[in-house]
Amino acid sequence: MRVLVTGGAGFIGSHVVEALAGRGHEPVVFDLRDGLDVRDAGAVAAALPGVDAVCHQAAMVGLGTGFGDAVEYVSRNDLGTAVLLTAMADAGVRRLVLAGSMVVYGEGRYECAGHGVVRPGPRAVEDLDAGRFEPRCPRCGEELTPGLVGEDTPVDPRNVYATTKLAQEHLAAAWARSTGGGAVSLRYHNVYGPGMPRDTPYAGVASFFRSALARGEAPRVFEDGGQRRDFVHVRDVAAANVAALEASAREGALIAYNTGSGEPHTVGEMARVLAAAYGGPEPVVTGEYRLGDVRHITADSARLRTELGWKAEVGFAEGMREFAAARLSGE
Ligand SMILES: NC(=O)c1ccc[n+]([C@@H]2O[C@H](COP(=O)([O-])OP(=O)(O)OC[C@H]3O[C@@H](n4cnc5c(N)ncnc54)[C@H](O)[C@@H]3O)[C@@H](O)[C@H]2O)c1
Ligand SMILES: [Zn+2]
Repeated sequence: MRVLVTGGAGFIGSHVVEALAGRGHEPVVFDLRDGLDVRDAGAVAAALPGVDAVCHQAAMVGLGTGFGDAVEYVSRNDLGTAVLLTAMADAGVRRLVLAGSMVVYGEGRYECAGHGVVRPGPRAVEDLDAGRFEPRCPRCGEELTPGLVGEDTPVDPRNVYATTKLAQEHLAAAWARSTGGGAVSLRYHNVYGPGMPRDTPYAGVASFFRSALARGEAPRVFEDGGQRRDFVHVRDVAAANVAALEASAREGALIAYNTGSGEPHTVGEMARVLAAAYGGPEPVVTGEYRLGDVRHITADSARLRTELGWKAEVGFAEGMREFAAARLSGE
């Protein structure tokens, strides 16, 4: 299969390229780093002839520096996706695998002992300032128990990036319906591993910690470190992309798959394990917070395992050991 990998020079995209080549496919990289912009209709059209499927990883990622980034996020992620899909429709390319994200869910799944499954809204600044990080039941104010989100959980994007990742899925679903194409969105959890970009406001938490350790500093853990996440290794994510590309598509629809290791950990625990593996200073818990961050978000990736026969192969301890010793991109 000849596969156009947008963002193929990036962190996840480059692992997808390697995984595709390893399975005997023919990946073609389309990345801004090589001067190829998905918003450029002519450039995309020129890249599509002979392509069987598109694996769309290109995006502006992370929480960014504030609302000032909104135009650039929307431009790269949503305008870019619309231009790409239009060119695919024109060229008759009918297979799409999209890099989705868990951020579309907002806060994860919570249960109140008295009210069952509830959906807490964004956390109040007063609560965060006072160190009250756990969301409370919107009905009775009691503490909640976090659980795993399934793909059918209603979406609730909490920041600009999340909004653009959700719009990408809606655009892809509209494209699938109107062209009869088949689209898959792999809603990645927190991806980490070799080649992860070094720390910038656009990077993920594992990269912040790893970059601090490389400077000889202690990782700085926000809130109280109790935030639950699912850290999934980049090679497992690349394998999920290959599985989605090789599976037979459901025509005319977009199917979403949570893509996580299935093993939740707290951010504080990740920092400790990584610092120990690196041989660096113990993490410091700072109590700082970022508006737009959610407290707990962990996915149930059972659908991906049962429908696409994929499973995460890299364990947390093993993956973090490798990550501690790996190079970050831009280092
Ligand atoms: N890293 C994670 O934890 C994570 C989690 C969920 C979803 N994702 C998604 O995975 C995808 C890949 O992310 P990543 O972590 O590898 O980030 P990355 O920044 O390393 O890679 C993104 C790549 O896209 C390219 N790109 C950006 N805008 C482009 C444009 N307009 N045209 C062509 N190329 C463009 C960049 O040059 C870069 O090489 C993104 O869609 C991201 O939203 C990542
Ligand atoms: Zn309640």
